[in-house]
Formats: sequence, C-alpha cells, structure tokens
Amino acid sequence: MSSIISHSATLRFRLKDLDTLPEPGRVLMVRPTHFSIDYVINPHMEGQVGKVNKEKAMQQWEQVRDAFAATGKEVVELEGGKNLPDMVFCANQSLPYCNPEGGHEVIMSIMNSPYRQPEVPLIADWYDQQNYERHHLDGEIIPIFEGMGDAIWHPGRRLLWGGHGFRTSKDAYTFISETLNVPVITLALHKSHFYHLDTCFCALNEDSVLIYPKAFEPEGLRLIRSLFKNVIEAPEEEAMDKFACNATCPDGKHVIIQKGAKQTSKALKEAGFEVVEVDTSEFIKSGGSVFCMKLMLW
Ligand code: ARG
Repeated sequence: MSSIISHSATLRFRLKDLDTLPEPGRVLMVRPTHFSIDYVINPHMEGQVGKVNKEKAMQQWEQVRDAFAATGKEVVELEGGKNLPDMVFCANQSLPYCNPEGGHEVIMSIMNSPYRQPEVPLIADWYDQQNYERHHLDGEIIPIFEGMGDAIWHPGRRLLWGGHGFRTSKDAYTFISETLNVPVITLALHKSHFYHLDTCFCALNEDSVLIYPKAFEPEGLRLIRSLFKNVIEAPEEEAMDKFACNATCPDGKHVIIQKGAKQTSKALKEAGFEVVEVDTSEFIKSGGSVFCMKLMLW
C-alpha cells in the first residue's frame, strides 16, 4: 500500500491493519575519528566552530556504542571519512528498509549541505557490501532528503513518518512511498532548532512516542495523536538543550537518552520504560545526539 497522508481526515486505516515490520537487529555507527565543527549548517552549531573536545567526543561515542550493545543489538562500526566532520551522524545518509519478503532495500540521501554530500557514496559502498538493493532519488526533481534524520519507521508496522521543511523536500516521500510500497505520513517542521524530525519525534514502540509538540503544526500533532496511544511530551528546555527527543528505544523497552533531561526521563519511567542515560554533550554542539549517531538496520 503506497499513499501520502498529510491530513488526519485522510487517515483511512488503523495501525493494526498495517503489516508488521520486524525489529532491526543491527546498529551502524561511524567512529568520530574526524568529528569536529568546521562550519555552521544548523542553529545549534553557531558559536561552536573549533570547540569540539575530540578526546571527550570519542569517550562519549564509545559510551553510546556500549549502551546499544548492552541491549543485545549487534553494533557495526565504520571509520568516518577524512574531512567529513559530520559523517558520525550516520542516521542522515540513508533510509534502510526490510521488505515483506525479507529483502533489504535502501533509499540513499541527497544531503542539503555540500559539505556533507560526499558522505553518501561512502555509505552507499558499505550497503553494496551488505547486498542491499539501493534506490536513488532524482536530484533534478527532489533536491533534498536526509534519510533517517527525517524519515522514521513506525516501530513494528510498515508505516513511515516523514518530516520535511528544512533538510528534506516533501516530494521525496512520493518517491519513497511508491518505491518501498508503504504509506507515509508527512509532518511539516517549522522551527529551525528542530530541523530534522528526529530532533522532536522519537517513536518508542508501536503505541508510544516522545515529542516536542511546539515543533509541529496543529495538523501534524493531530496525526501523531491519532496513531500513538501514548504521547509523551518533552519540555522546551530539555528538547532544545538536552536533545531529549533525539533518544532511541532500540528494543521497545530501553530508552537511550542524553543525561539530565529530568522531566522527560521521569515521564519515560512512569510510562514503563527503562531509561539509560549517556552523555553526548560534544555532539549536541553540532546539533545531534543519540538518535542520529547511529542507524538501526536489519
Ligand atoms: N551537524 C549535523 C548537521 O547539521 C548534525 C546532524 C544531526 N543529525 C540529526 N539527524 N539530527 O547536519
């Protein structure tokens, strides 16, 4: 079933009607050997050029890696490319998918910033070694798409949530929906600090999501509330400064999240999740945290 949904009035299915999607068993991470802040392409990077503590960043990255491994996932480590300081944010170069036949497919990104565009062919080479079927957007028609920064699978169901506005063109989702044969619910983003969907929307399990509500238009919020039974809201300071919504729940139970997002962590615990705090402060300077430091795949 392929369709694009951008209005709750056009939502003609219940979650239970959609086919199930298996839980990803692998986590790809790109080592931060070349991580630094050399340019400004999002508001969080302002005033941070040259300010990354590389040793601290490496320790923090290893802590995140170990947190994923502790949930039983297989962590695959890749070396980052030289002069590609943002390649560590490996949620952005692609959108992987496991089709109903168990085949592996991937939509490769077209990065918004020329600084980041050379990351994509390096990740594409890795997919070729993994026997993924690669799909490419036509850059003439669809100028930008930033992978899982904006396109997020609904846990357990063949449904994609697609953010657009800053780093992804809305039209990308027509191609993706038709190519992968899945419905896509699009969500407009309108606050520049919340430039990727993963900065304000964290799908935890089939019924639960963590969001920063002000990052969405009223119609987007209606769509989120109509498909998730439990909507946990992060307060502004935690969403903004602690990247609270850039967390990840790899197994439906543990939530790996930046430390110090007190109210969010409390709400997650009350909802029955186990909170695993990590420190990603060096990466937050660049506009990313746990979610975008990895890519879940099959
Ligand atoms: N500095 C990177 C950029 O602006 C950070 C990317 C963070 N990724 C994410 N999915 N939020 O592109």
